[in-house]
Amino acid sequence: MTTDTTQKTAAPDRPSTPGDTSEASPAARRTGTRIAWTWVLLSSLGIAAFAVVPYLTAPLRELAESPSGGLAGNYAEQPLPIRIAFYAHIVAGGIALVLGPLQFWRGLRERRPRVHRWTGRVYIAAIGVGGIAALVIAPVNDAGLVGLFGFGGLGVLWLVTGWLAYRAIRRHDVDTHRAWMMRNFALTYAAVTLRIWLPLLLLVQLPFIADGTDFDAVFANAYAAVPFLCWVPNLIVAEWLIARRGLPALWRQPERGIRQPSSSRPRPTPGDRRPTTRSARVRVGREDRNSRRGESAQRPAARLAVGDDAGDGVERHDRVAGGGADLLGAREHVGLGGA
Ligand code: HEM
Repeated sequence: MTTDTTQKTAAPDRPSTPGDTSEASPAARRTGTRIAWTWVLLSSLGIAAFAVVPYLTAPLRELAESPSGGLAGNYAEQPLPIRIAFYAHIVAGGIALVLGPLQFWRGLRERRPRVHRWTGRVYIAAIGVGGIAALVIAPVNDAGLVGLFGFGGLGVLWLVTGWLAYRAIRRHDVDTHRAWMMRNFALTYAAVTLRIWLPLLLLVQLPFIADGTDFDAVFANAYAAVPFLCWVPNLIVAEWLIARRGLPALWRQPERGIRQPSSSRPRPTPGDRRPTTRSARVRVGREDRNSRRGESAQRPAARLAVGDDAGDGVERHDRVAGGGADLLGAREHVGLGGA
Protein backbone atom coordinates (compact mmCIF):
# COMPACT_ATOMS: atom_id res chain seq x y z
CA MET A 1 0.00 0.00 0.00
CA THR A 2 1.22 3.48 -0.74
CA THR A 3 0.66 6.51 1.43
CA ASP A 4 0.08 9.85 -0.29
CA THR A 5 1.14 12.03 2.59
CA THR A 6 2.52 14.55 0.10
CA GLN A 7 -0.99 15.26 -1.13
CA LYS A 8 -2.53 15.40 2.29
CA THR A 9 0.21 17.57 3.77
CA ALA A 10 -0.31 20.27 1.15
CA ALA A 11 -1.23 23.03 3.56
CA PRO A 12 -0.52 21.98 7.10
CA ASP A 13 -0.05 25.37 8.65
CA ARG A 14 -2.40 27.63 6.81
CA PRO A 15 -4.10 29.91 9.30
CA SER A 16 -7.58 29.38 7.96
CA THR A 17 -9.44 27.29 5.47
CA PRO A 18 -10.45 28.84 2.12
CA GLY A 19 -13.32 31.19 2.46
CA ASP A 20 -12.88 31.53 6.18
CA THR A 21 -12.67 35.19 6.95
CA SER A 22 -13.10 34.75 10.68
CA GLU A 23 -10.48 36.40 12.90
CA ALA A 24 -10.95 33.90 15.74
CA SER A 25 -7.95 31.93 16.91
CA PRO A 26 -7.93 28.17 16.19
CA ALA A 27 -8.42 27.45 19.91
CA ALA A 28 -11.44 29.75 20.06
CA ARG A 29 -12.90 28.14 16.97
CA ARG A 30 -12.30 24.68 18.42
CA THR A 31 -14.18 25.68 21.54
CA GLY A 32 -16.97 27.14 19.39
CA THR A 33 -17.21 23.92 17.41
CA ARG A 34 -17.41 21.85 20.60
CA ILE A 35 -20.14 24.02 22.06
CA ALA A 36 -22.11 23.92 18.81
CA TRP A 37 -21.79 20.14 18.57
CA THR A 38 -22.85 19.67 22.20
CA TRP A 39 -25.91 21.84 21.53
CA VAL A 40 -26.76 19.85 18.41
CA LEU A 41 -26.37 16.55 20.31
CA LEU A 42 -28.48 17.59 23.29
CA SER A 43 -31.21 19.26 21.23
CA SER A 44 -31.39 16.20 18.96
CA LEU A 45 -31.69 13.84 21.93
CA GLY A 46 -34.28 16.12 23.50
CA ILE A 47 -36.49 16.27 20.40
CA ALA A 48 -36.12 12.53 19.76
CA ALA A 49 -37.37 11.94 23.31
CA PHE A 50 -40.11 14.57 23.53
CA ALA A 51 -41.49 14.46 19.98
CA VAL A 52 -41.26 10.74 19.20
CA VAL A 53 -41.66 8.83 22.47
CA PRO A 54 -45.17 10.15 23.37
CA TYR A 55 -46.55 8.60 20.15
CA LEU A 56 -45.30 5.21 21.33
CA THR A 57 -47.08 5.37 24.69
CA ALA A 58 -50.71 5.09 23.54
CA PRO A 59 -52.75 4.42 20.38
CA LEU A 60 -53.30 7.38 18.02
CA ARG A 61 -57.07 7.46 18.78
CA GLU A 62 -56.40 7.83 22.48
CA LEU A 63 -53.71 10.48 21.94
CA ALA A 64 -56.04 12.39 19.61
CA GLU A 65 -58.38 12.94 22.58
CA SER A 66 -55.70 14.47 24.78
CA PRO A 67 -54.62 18.12 24.44
CA SER A 68 -50.94 17.07 24.28
CA GLY A 69 -51.60 14.57 21.52
CA GLY A 70 -49.56 16.44 18.89
CA LEU A 71 -50.62 15.50 15.38
CA ALA A 72 -52.31 12.27 16.47
CA GLY A 73 -55.70 13.70 15.51
CA ASN A 74 -54.50 14.09 11.96
CA TYR A 75 -53.52 10.43 11.67
CA ALA A 76 -55.90 8.53 13.94
CA GLU A 77 -58.53 8.14 11.21
CA GLN A 78 -56.17 7.70 8.25
CA PRO A 79 -56.07 4.38 6.35
CA LEU A 80 -53.76 1.72 7.78
CA PRO A 81 -50.88 2.23 5.26
CA ILE A 82 -50.70 5.93 6.21
CA ARG A 83 -50.70 5.09 9.91
CA ILE A 84 -47.95 2.52 9.37
CA ALA A 85 -45.96 5.10 7.39
CA PHE A 86 -46.48 7.62 10.20
CA TYR A 87 -45.03 5.25 12.81
CA ALA A 88 -42.22 4.16 10.47
CA HIS A 89 -41.40 7.82 9.90
CA ILE A 90 -41.24 8.91 13.52
CA VAL A 91 -39.26 5.84 14.67
CA ALA A 92 -36.76 6.00 11.78
CA GLY A 93 -36.55 9.81 12.09
CA GLY A 94 -35.87 9.46 15.83
CA ILE A 95 -33.09 6.93 15.17
CA ALA A 96 -31.49 9.23 12.56
CA LEU A 97 -31.69 12.18 14.92
CA VAL A 98 -30.00 10.28 17.77
CA LEU A 99 -27.27 8.71 15.62
CA GLY A 100 -26.53 11.69 13.36
CA PRO A 101 -24.53 13.82 15.83
CA LEU A 102 -22.38 10.82 16.80
CA GLN A 103 -21.15 10.53 13.21
CA PHE A 104 -19.55 13.97 13.48
CA TRP A 105 -17.63 13.01 16.61
CA ARG A 106 -14.03 12.67 15.53
CA GLY A 107 -13.00 10.71 18.63
CA LEU A 108 -15.49 7.96 17.83
CA ARG A 109 -14.47 7.83 14.18
CA GLU A 110 -10.82 7.44 14.99
CA ARG A 111 -10.97 5.22 18.04
CA ARG A 112 -13.91 3.07 16.97
CA PRO A 113 -14.07 3.16 13.18
CA ARG A 114 -16.19 0.01 13.10
CA VAL A 115 -18.76 1.62 15.37
CA HIS A 116 -18.75 4.68 13.09
CA ARG A 117 -19.29 2.51 10.02
CA TRP A 118 -22.14 0.51 11.55
CA THR A 119 -23.78 3.57 13.02
CA GLY A 120 -23.48 5.18 9.60
CA ARG A 121 -25.19 2.22 7.93
CA VAL A 122 -28.04 2.29 10.44
CA TYR A 123 -28.29 6.08 9.99
CA ILE A 124 -28.52 5.76 6.19
CA ALA A 125 -31.09 2.95 6.49
CA ALA A 126 -33.11 5.15 8.87
CA ILE A 127 -33.00 7.98 6.32
CA GLY A 128 -34.22 5.56 3.64
CA VAL A 129 -37.17 4.33 5.72
CA GLY A 130 -37.94 7.72 7.30
CA GLY A 131 -37.65 9.56 3.97
CA ILE A 132 -39.92 7.22 2.00
CA ALA A 133 -42.43 7.19 4.85
CA ALA A 134 -42.32 11.01 4.96
CA LEU A 135 -43.25 11.09 1.27
CA VAL A 136 -46.21 8.80 2.01
CA ILE A 137 -47.58 11.02 4.81
CA ALA A 138 -46.73 14.39 3.21
CA PRO A 139 -49.94 14.48 1.10
CA VAL A 140 -52.08 14.32 4.26
CA ASN A 141 -49.97 16.71 6.36
CA ASP A 142 -51.60 19.39 8.48
CA ALA A 143 -50.21 22.34 6.51
CA GLY A 144 -51.95 21.54 3.21
CA LEU A 145 -50.31 22.38 -0.08
CA VAL A 146 -47.41 24.34 1.40
CA GLY A 147 -46.72 21.30 3.62
CA LEU A 148 -46.88 18.98 0.63
CA PHE A 149 -44.20 20.98 -1.18
CA GLY A 150 -42.17 21.94 1.91
CA PHE A 151 -42.13 18.55 3.65
CA GLY A 152 -42.18 16.74 0.29
CA GLY A 153 -39.13 18.71 -0.93
CA LEU A 154 -37.40 18.06 2.38
CA GLY A 155 -38.13 14.33 2.07
CA VAL A 156 -36.74 14.13 -1.47
CA LEU A 157 -33.57 16.05 -0.54
CA TRP A 158 -33.16 13.92 2.59
CA LEU A 159 -33.14 10.76 0.47
CA VAL A 160 -30.97 12.23 -2.29
CA THR A 161 -28.30 13.68 0.04
CA GLY A 162 -28.19 10.42 2.02
CA TRP A 163 -27.71 8.48 -1.20
CA LEU A 164 -24.98 10.84 -2.46
CA ALA A 165 -23.14 10.65 0.88
CA TYR A 166 -23.28 6.86 0.76
CA ARG A 167 -22.19 6.73 -2.88
CA ALA A 168 -19.23 9.07 -2.19
CA ILE A 169 -17.89 6.88 0.60
CA ARG A 170 -18.30 3.72 -1.48
CA ARG A 171 -15.86 5.25 -3.96
CA HIS A 172 -13.62 6.35 -1.05
CA ASP A 173 -14.17 10.04 -1.64
CA VAL A 174 -14.08 11.12 1.99
CA ASP A 175 -14.31 14.89 1.47
CA THR A 176 -17.38 14.62 -0.72
CA HIS A 177 -18.90 12.13 1.71
CA ARG A 178 -18.38 14.55 4.58
CA ALA A 179 -19.92 17.42 2.66
CA TRP A 180 -23.04 15.39 1.74
CA MET A 181 -23.32 14.11 5.30
CA MET A 182 -23.27 17.65 6.62
CA ARG A 183 -26.05 18.61 4.19
CA ASN A 184 -27.98 15.48 5.05
CA PHE A 185 -27.77 16.00 8.79
CA ALA A 186 -28.74 19.66 8.36
CA LEU A 187 -31.96 18.25 6.88
CA THR A 188 -32.38 15.68 9.66
CA TYR A 189 -31.97 18.54 12.11
CA ALA A 190 -35.08 20.12 10.59
CA ALA A 191 -36.96 18.01 13.16
CA VAL A 192 -35.35 20.22 15.84
CA THR A 193 -35.51 23.59 14.08
CA LEU A 194 -39.18 23.03 13.24
CA ARG A 195 -39.90 22.73 16.94
CA ILE A 196 -37.92 25.91 17.64
CA TRP A 197 -39.57 27.94 14.86
CA LEU A 198 -43.10 26.89 15.75
CA PRO A 199 -43.28 28.38 19.28
CA LEU A 200 -41.41 31.47 18.05
CA LEU A 201 -43.97 31.98 15.30
CA LEU A 202 -46.75 31.57 17.85
CA LEU A 203 -45.08 34.09 20.15
CA VAL A 204 -44.67 36.79 17.50
CA GLN A 205 -48.41 36.63 16.90
CA LEU A 206 -49.24 37.27 20.58
CA PRO A 207 -49.39 41.08 20.32
CA PHE A 208 -51.94 40.76 17.52
CA ILE A 209 -54.24 38.34 19.30
CA ALA A 210 -57.49 39.97 20.31
CA ASP A 211 -60.15 38.57 22.63
CA GLY A 212 -61.94 35.73 20.98
CA THR A 213 -59.19 34.99 18.44
CA ASP A 214 -59.34 31.40 17.34
CA PHE A 215 -56.18 29.67 18.57
CA ASP A 216 -56.44 27.15 15.73
CA ALA A 217 -56.07 30.00 13.23
CA VAL A 218 -53.00 31.33 15.09
CA PHE A 219 -51.48 27.85 15.05
CA ALA A 220 -52.32 27.36 11.37
CA ASN A 221 -50.55 30.66 10.56
CA ALA A 222 -47.41 29.50 12.30
CA TYR A 223 -47.58 25.96 10.92
CA ALA A 224 -47.90 27.24 7.35
CA ALA A 225 -44.42 28.76 7.56
CA VAL A 226 -42.49 25.82 9.02
CA PRO A 227 -42.54 23.29 6.14
CA PHE A 228 -39.84 25.41 4.42
CA LEU A 229 -38.49 27.42 7.35
CA CYS A 230 -37.46 24.26 9.19
CA TRP A 231 -34.87 23.24 6.60
CA VAL A 232 -33.89 25.97 4.10
CA PRO A 233 -31.83 28.00 6.65
CA ASN A 234 -30.23 24.75 7.91
CA LEU A 235 -29.00 23.96 4.41
CA ILE A 236 -27.56 27.46 4.02
CA VAL A 237 -25.65 27.11 7.30
CA ALA A 238 -24.41 23.65 6.27
CA GLU A 239 -23.19 24.98 2.92
CA TRP A 240 -21.38 27.82 4.67
CA LEU A 241 -19.67 25.36 7.06
CA ILE A 242 -18.72 23.10 4.17
CA ALA A 243 -17.04 25.99 2.30
CA ARG A 244 -15.38 27.27 5.47
CA ARG A 245 -13.82 23.88 6.08
CA GLY A 246 -12.48 23.60 2.55
CA LEU A 247 -14.78 20.70 1.64
CA PRO A 248 -16.38 20.56 -1.82
CA ALA A 249 -19.08 23.22 -1.62
CA LEU A 250 -21.85 23.33 -4.20
CA TRP A 251 -20.70 26.62 -5.69
CA ARG A 252 -16.96 26.34 -5.14
CA GLN A 253 -14.52 23.45 -5.13
CA PRO A 254 -11.51 23.64 -2.78
CA GLU A 255 -8.50 25.33 -4.35
CA ARG A 256 -5.93 22.96 -5.68
CA GLY A 257 -2.74 22.97 -3.64
CA ILE A 258 -4.58 24.15 -0.56
CA ARG A 259 -6.83 21.21 -0.09
CA GLN A 260 -7.28 18.36 -2.46
CA PRO A 261 -10.66 16.67 -2.46
CA SER A 262 -10.14 12.99 -1.91
CA SER A 263 -11.78 12.32 -5.27
CA SER A 264 -8.89 14.05 -7.03
CA ARG A 265 -6.25 12.13 -5.14
CA PRO A 266 -4.66 9.37 -7.19
CA ARG A 267 -6.71 6.17 -7.26
CA PRO A 268 -4.95 3.21 -5.70
CA THR A 269 -3.08 0.99 -8.09
CA PRO A 270 -4.21 -2.65 -8.31
CA GLY A 271 -1.44 -3.52 -5.84
CA ASP A 272 -2.92 -1.06 -3.36
CA ARG A 273 -6.43 -2.43 -3.50
CA ARG A 274 -7.98 -3.48 -0.25
CA PRO A 275 -8.00 -7.19 0.27
CA THR A 276 -11.46 -8.63 -0.01
CA THR A 277 -11.54 -11.11 2.86
CA ARG A 278 -11.69 -10.03 6.47
CA SER A 279 -8.67 -12.08 7.57
CA ALA A 280 -6.59 -10.67 4.71
CA ARG A 281 -7.62 -7.15 5.69
CA VAL A 282 -6.58 -7.74 9.30
CA ARG A 283 -3.22 -9.19 8.16
CA VAL A 284 -2.51 -6.31 5.76
CA GLY A 285 -3.56 -3.78 8.38
CA ARG A 286 -1.13 -5.29 10.88
CA GLU A 287 1.74 -5.38 8.37
CA ASP A 288 0.94 -1.83 7.34
CA ARG A 289 0.98 -0.62 10.94
CA ASN A 290 4.32 -2.33 11.60
CA SER A 291 5.91 -0.88 8.49
CA ARG A 292 4.56 2.52 9.41
CA ARG A 293 6.13 2.29 12.88
CA GLY A 294 9.47 1.66 11.20
CA GLU A 295 9.05 4.54 8.77
CA SER A 296 8.10 7.03 11.41
CA ALA A 297 11.35 6.48 13.28
CA GLN A 298 13.18 8.00 10.32
CA ARG A 299 10.65 10.56 9.17
CA PRO A 300 9.97 13.96 10.70
CA ALA A 301 6.44 14.65 11.80
CA ALA A 302 4.11 15.05 8.89
CA ARG A 303 0.69 16.53 9.18
CA LEU A 304 -2.45 15.49 7.49
CA ALA A 305 -5.11 18.07 6.85
CA VAL A 306 -8.45 16.36 6.57
CA GLY A 307 -10.88 19.02 7.69
CA ASP A 308 -12.58 19.30 11.01
CA ASP A 309 -15.67 18.46 12.89
CA ALA A 310 -16.98 17.99 16.37
CA GLY A 311 -14.39 18.31 19.01
CA ASP A 312 -11.49 19.31 16.82
CA GLY A 313 -12.24 22.79 15.58
CA VAL A 314 -12.07 24.30 12.16
CA GLU A 315 -8.45 23.61 11.53
CA ARG A 316 -7.81 19.91 12.13
CA HIS A 317 -4.49 18.32 11.34
CA ASP A 318 -4.20 14.67 12.11
CA ARG A 319 -0.70 13.95 13.14
CA VAL A 320 1.08 11.20 11.29
CA ALA A 321 4.03 11.43 13.60
CA GLY A 322 4.89 8.71 16.05
CA GLY A 323 4.03 5.61 14.10
CA GLY A 324 1.08 6.93 12.14
CA ALA A 325 -1.67 5.57 14.37
CA ASP A 326 -3.76 8.58 13.42
CA LEU A 327 -2.95 8.16 9.78
CA LEU A 328 -3.91 4.52 9.97
CA GLY A 329 -7.18 5.50 11.53
CA ALA A 330 -7.79 7.93 8.70
CA ARG A 331 -6.79 5.44 6.05
CA GLU A 332 -8.91 2.71 7.53
CA HIS A 333 -11.64 5.22 7.38
CA VAL A 334 -11.12 5.90 3.73
CA GLY A 335 -10.93 2.23 2.98
CA LEU A 336 -13.87 0.95 4.95
CA GLY A 337 -16.56 3.44 4.38
CA GLY A 338 -16.69 5.89 7.26
CA ALA A 339 -15.89 9.59 7.34
C1 HEM B 1 -35.85 15.43 7.34
C2 HEM B 1 -36.84 14.85 6.74
C3 HEM B 1 -38.22 14.79 7.32
C4 HEM B 1 -39.38 14.96 6.63
C5 HEM B 1 -39.50 15.20 5.15
C6 HEM B 1 -40.45 14.84 7.55
C7 HEM B 1 -41.79 14.93 7.22
C8 HEM B 1 -42.83 14.87 8.12
C9 HEM B 1 -44.21 15.04 7.80
C10 HEM B 1 -44.78 15.32 6.42
C11 HEM B 1 -44.90 14.93 8.95
C12 HEM B 1 -46.41 15.10 9.10
C13 HEM B 1 -46.68 16.52 9.43
C14 HEM B 1 -48.15 16.84 9.46
O1 HEM B 1 -48.98 15.94 9.49
O2 HEM B 1 -48.49 18.04 9.50
C15 HEM B 1 -43.97 14.67 10.00
C16 HEM B 1 -44.30 14.48 11.31
C17 HEM B 1 -43.42 14.08 12.28
N1 HEM B 1 -42.08 13.89 12.14
FE1 HEM B 1 -41.01 14.22 10.46
N2 HEM B 1 -39.93 14.60 8.80
C18 HEM B 1 -38.57 14.56 8.70
C19 HEM B 1 -37.67 14.30 9.70
C20 HEM B 1 -38.02 13.89 10.97
C21 HEM B 1 -37.10 13.51 11.98
C22 HEM B 1 -35.57 13.46 11.85
C23 HEM B 1 -37.82 13.21 13.07
C24 HEM B 1 -37.24 12.78 14.39
C25 HEM B 1 -37.63 13.26 15.52
C26 HEM B 1 -39.20 13.39 12.76
C27 HEM B 1 -40.26 13.20 13.62
C28 HEM B 1 -41.58 13.50 13.34
C29 HEM B 1 -42.65 13.44 14.30
C30 HEM B 1 -42.52 13.03 15.77
C31 HEM B 1 -43.80 13.81 13.64
C32 HEM B 1 -45.20 13.90 14.23
C33 HEM B 1 -45.56 15.34 14.37
C34 HEM B 1 -45.25 15.92 15.69
O3 HEM B 1 -45.66 15.40 16.73
O4 HEM B 1 -44.60 17.00 15.69
N3 HEM B 1 -39.28 13.80 11.47
N4 HEM B 1 -42.71 14.63 9.47
